[in-house]
Amino acid sequence: PPIIAVVPAAGVGSRMQADRPKQYLTIHGKTVLEHTFNALCDHPLITRVVVAVSHDDPYFDALSVARAPWLTRVTGGHTRSESVLAATATLPDASWALVHDAARPCLSHKDIDALIQTALTSSVAGAILATPVRDTMKRAQPDLTEPALIAHTENREHLWHALTPQMFRADQLRAALEHAQQAGIPVTDEASAMEASGHAVALVDANPANIKITRPADMPLAQFYLSALHD
Ligand code: CTP
Ligand code: MG
Repeated sequence: PPIIAVVPAAGVGSRMQADRPKQYLTIHGKTVLEHTFNALCDHPLITRVVVAVSHDDPYFDALSVARAPWLTRVTGGHTRSESVLAATATLPDASWALVHDAARPCLSHKDIDALIQTALTSSVAGAILATPVRDTMKRAQPDLTEPALIAHTENREHLWHALTPQMFRADQLRAALEHAQQAGIPVTDEASAMEASGHAVALVDANPANIKITRPADMPLAQFYLSALHD
């Protein structure tokens, strides 16, 4: 069955405080979104991309890839998971959805390979890229004091940062996202919806260069990692 990339790109990028959504900021003469498309399309097993774009987006049509034959555009929603759900509606049931944030342009071919390999060959519903937590993790007391107070130190031994891409069967992912939405379960990535539906999901140890551009300081960092990737 085909592996179809799903790219949520309907966010406004409020934390970036730029004059446009961060996926349309430029690095090395190309938008972040185009770098993301390139990283995905460079992989021979990814033959199609479905992108979720905001209903009032004035930037997408100006991209040179806007009318590419391998690209399908859908209208995104108010949240990331609504945007992904809208995109999965266009996928054949038997296909695999490889969901990847538009705001993560520094994705390596090697990590896509490792993710696909694990999702296709392990006895799990799917897999996500992730990286082990390196810092000491503190749980704060729930009362909102100033300053906040430490309740305890979490054991970081089994803690991972969830990255994207995250790869699942399209029909199972669609059902899991719909279930989470109906049950009011908060979902910040695809895996959390799959977990809530009882599916086993594998962690694939990935390159931490695959950052999500979130704040202004992330732009020069992404530029650095992109140069390093293409050396
Ligand atoms: N996204 C989306 N639809 C939404 C919200 C987010 O498709 N309604 C996408 C973003 O475009 C981004 C990815 O989900 O590629 C990760 O979200 P995030 O980093 O939070 O991006 P924004 O929501 O745009 O940024 P912010 O939260 O700072 O406003
Ligand atoms: Mg957001």
